[in-house]
Amino acid sequence: MTHSASRQVCECCGRALDELDTSPVCPACGGLLELEHPAPSNTPPLRDRFAVRRGALSGLDASGVWRYRELVLPSASDGEVVSHPEGNTPLLERASVSAWAGVGHLRIKHEGHNPTGSFKDRGMTVAMTQARRTGARAVACASTGNTSASLAAYAAQAGLPALVFVPAGKVAMGKLAQTMAYGALTLLVRGSFDDCLSLARESSRTLGVQLLNSVNPFRLEGQKTIVLELLEQLDWAAPDWIALPAGNLGNTSAFGKALREARAVGLIDRLPRLAAIQAEGASPFAQSFARGFTEHLTVQPETVATAIRIGAPASWDRAVRAIRETNGYVAAVSDDEILGTKAMIDAAGVGCEPASAASVAGVRELRARGVIGANERVVAVLTGNLLKDPEALVHYHRDTEPPPAGANRPVEIESNVTAVERAMEAFLRARPLPPV
Ligand code: F0G
Repeated sequence: MTHSASRQVCECCGRALDELDTSPVCPACGGLLELEHPAPSNTPPLRDRFAVRRGALSGLDASGVWRYRELVLPSASDGEVVSHPEGNTPLLERASVSAWAGVGHLRIKHEGHNPTGSFKDRGMTVAMTQARRTGARAVACASTGNTSASLAAYAAQAGLPALVFVPAGKVAMGKLAQTMAYGALTLLVRGSFDDCLSLARESSRTLGVQLLNSVNPFRLEGQKTIVLELLEQLDWAAPDWIALPAGNLGNTSAFGKALREARAVGLIDRLPRLAAIQAEGASPFAQSFARGFTEHLTVQPETVATAIRIGAPASWDRAVRAIRETNGYVAAVSDDEILGTKAMIDAAGVGCEPASAASVAGVRELRARGVIGANERVVAVLTGNLLKDPEALVHYHRDTEPPPAGANRPVEIESNVTAVERAMEAFLRARPLPPV
């Protein structure tokens, strides 16, 4: 079945562009573009259509992004789509993490289960599909690491050259390794992520390369499916809160759009509140929220959570809209809170990268402030996989002095059973075995 095309609409001046227009921003006013899709028919009802596709073993329906194609990019045909596939990530419950956060009904949406280990794959499948549809010669992005890993993988699949700009010395090792392995030209820029983004924007204009950062509206369409999938996993009973880490604010914007549209097409009847959580050292959005969003702030960012080490978020206005429309909240958590929470999530056998733990740390903080009620239903999104940042992990567990509460030091021993026994005894003294 063919579908009529979507439009790209400028969020500032309302100018409409064709779906296949490749302008990175509005040519009239420089505003960010947003996609508008034709209204999906409701026969059969969307919920039923989505349910039938769930669990498909191959084809578009096997992707947790393209299963929702009516709300993502209805006109893309099977042959055009560049899909790994991606999505289909689990919604977990872990008593120890709920207890840490202080809420009884905490679910964890683990986006680290995507093919390159972060939620970025959901946006990248759509942006890469669109890049190929519109005849891109090459693709580019600025990144704190996850977008670059995802771009490199999907560009390899699409057969397109990829160019990435990352801040030198500030990208976690797993992400850098992936980006090189998947074959992208990896530029280590002497500057911050914000410098990388300016350079990527300028270079893509000059070199005629398509920019696939989350300012690209097609990225957001894919990222919306994190919300659609978690709502479906809850049988469309919207939770009270959805918490997520916030850096460049693309994901916060995508979540707001997903919720707005899910309600408009009748998938849900009430909006959850969004809780966007920043790292204290990179928290212009949280600071602005505290002042009623009266000022658009930028900061010199610094945080152990390098994924969200961003001082001048690009999707500011649309994220403000997402927070306002959902009666949401923006907070900041310290690096110590991020690392302590990450250690709890890791020790539950779930695991995530530092930035991801900001969502759960934020729930704990908002619970402590009484913003989130003890009986409210909360979903916290973990955005990236544990193995993304092995250096932060080893530093926390092995090298930090004095050892933090969650540290699990490795023990070097002589090669004999007595040494094993001694180490085991010390280990069990610290955490005794439960009674048989
Ligand atoms: N969590 C992780 C693991 C991320 O990599 C990012 C962003 C975010 C959260 C925040 O999402 O920027 O949409 O607010 N990473 C980008 C990158 C900047 O280049 O990989 P956001």
